[in-house]
Amino acid sequence: MTGLSFRVGLRILASEYKQCGDCRKRVMLRSPALPSQRRGPAIQPPKIALGGAVDKSRSGSGTVPMPHSAPPRRSIVLTGASQGLGKAVCETLRSEIFAGDQRILIGRSATEGPGSAETFLQRDLSQDRFDADGILIAPDVARLIFVNNAGTVEPIASFARIDPIELHKAMNVNFASPLAIAQHLARVARARSIPLLVLNVTSGAALRPVAGWTAYCTSKAAIRSALDVLALEEESVSVLHFDPGVIDTPMQARIRQSAPEDMPEVDAFRAMARENQLQTAAAVAGKLSGIIRDFAA
Ligand SMILES: NC(=O)c1ccc[n+]([C@@H]2O[C@H](COP(=O)([O-])OP(=O)(O)OC[C@H]3O[C@@H](n4cnc5c(N)ncnc54)[C@H](OP(=O)(O)O)[C@@H]3O)[C@@H](O)[C@H]2O)c1
Repeated sequence: MTGLSFRVGLRILASEYKQCGDCRKRVMLRSPALPSQRRGPAIQPPKIALGGAVDKSRSGSGTVPMPHSAPPRRSIVLTGASQGLGKAVCETLRSEIFAGDQRILIGRSATEGPGSAETFLQRDLSQDRFDADGILIAPDVARLIFVNNAGTVEPIASFARIDPIELHKAMNVNFASPLAIAQHLARVARARSIPLLVLNVTSGAALRPVAGWTAYCTSKAAIRSALDVLALEEESVSVLHFDPGVIDTPMQARIRQSAPEDMPEVDAFRAMARENQLQTAAAVAGKLSGIIRDFAA
């Protein structure tokens, strides 16, 4: 793949970012290159380079072109900013590059030191019927970005033993609540005729079964599919599925604690940690924030 275009305000783009998968088997089976891209009809969109090492092929020198003028004001909605990848993304969003943007953080635990440009909405995404109407978008923004980052890998249990209540909660966190947020933001985008980018932090588990991960695989696949439908239906919405690969976060620590009878692949994850194969959250956040930064006219 030689490049990637956002169909800003025009038509859909549903793309999939793949770095190295989030399990050992997938790392070995899949290339780190971006594997696929789905495009809508051929309308000439502005070409926008992506940041970091997400797609090195698009920049021969390895440098990332910066916008020549200040980008239009963006509203960035980020879920799960209290720890792991979301916390690192939140820190990058506090940098000078995003100083003019509205930032809305959603999660159970408050993040440290929100500034005046930040709003924190305390919400438990595992609850039923997430009320997204409280996400108030500033009137002067010209771009909407939803980073669907919050996630849970629990319950980790064999299909035979999975608790339906825990499964339901996981479906809410990984699927139903982000769907409600995307639905709300798509409505705002449509009403104001502004583009919305949904940056979906996905996983290899959305595409392949992992024993013990019924809840995670199912919910990650479901949100991926739902967002693809959204992108297909809505002129103003672009969807990017970003698979970060294996990151050193509390989620990975939780995975390594699994009993082999619940998750037969657990040893592969433990070995990856032992062999220092995990990426830092900061490195991955740099790539995500590069995509956000470039989502401008
Ligand atoms: N780590 C990896 O190797 C890896 C690999 C592939 C994909 N991913 C994806 O990357 C994303 C971030 O993962 P991570 O590793 O950073 O996970 P993490 O360390 O467990 O952090 C998850 C975040 O989601 C929030 N969250 C979880 N349950 C919530 C709930 N019920 N309500 C509101 N917020 C909730 C947490 O906040 P509170 O607990 O404070 O509410 C936390 O901020 C996830 O979508 C995950 O699927 C991770």
